[in-house]
Amino acid sequence: MKVAKIIELPKILDERGNLSFLEEDKHIPFSIERMYWIYDVPGGEVRGGHSYHKNEEIIIALSGSFDVVLNDGISSKTFSLNRSHYGLYVPAGTWRHMENFSTNALGFIVASTSFSEDDYERDFKGYSSTTKN
Ligand code: TYD
Repeated sequence: MKVAKIIELPKILDERGNLSFLEEDKHIPFSIERMYWIYDVPGGEVRGGHSYHKNEEIIIALSGSFDVVLNDGISSKTFSLNRSHYGLYVPAGTWRHMENFSTNALGFIVASTSFSEDDYERDFKGYSSTTKN
């Protein structure tokens, strides 16, 4: 069973600044189909609040910080993202939301499927009743 985990990406230190990168074959446990980013989030706003049936993701705080809260229907776990060389792998079927966005936070998400509203589960009650055990 696939589990959520932090993936450490390369960080090339240089007196001119840092450089990080990701390569599908080396760092991502799926084929990349889509990338999207979340930015200009007003203070106190919450994003996400759903799970996907098929889509897997890596979530990176490219700038600033925010929390990703994962919930398997029984318990929740919070990952605070604030380093641009760490990605949070979120397997399909994981309820997740993002909160506590700092000013100028930039969330970058690498996803395994193209966008499809049909892949969303937006009803937490429906989600948690099918994920227990
Ligand atoms: P949504 O995933 O609901 O945002 P969040 O989970 O962060 O609250 O997406 C918001 C809107 O953007 C929704 O109308 C679907 C659309 N959207 C796309 O068209 N393509 C995409 O790749 C994504 C992620 C969202």
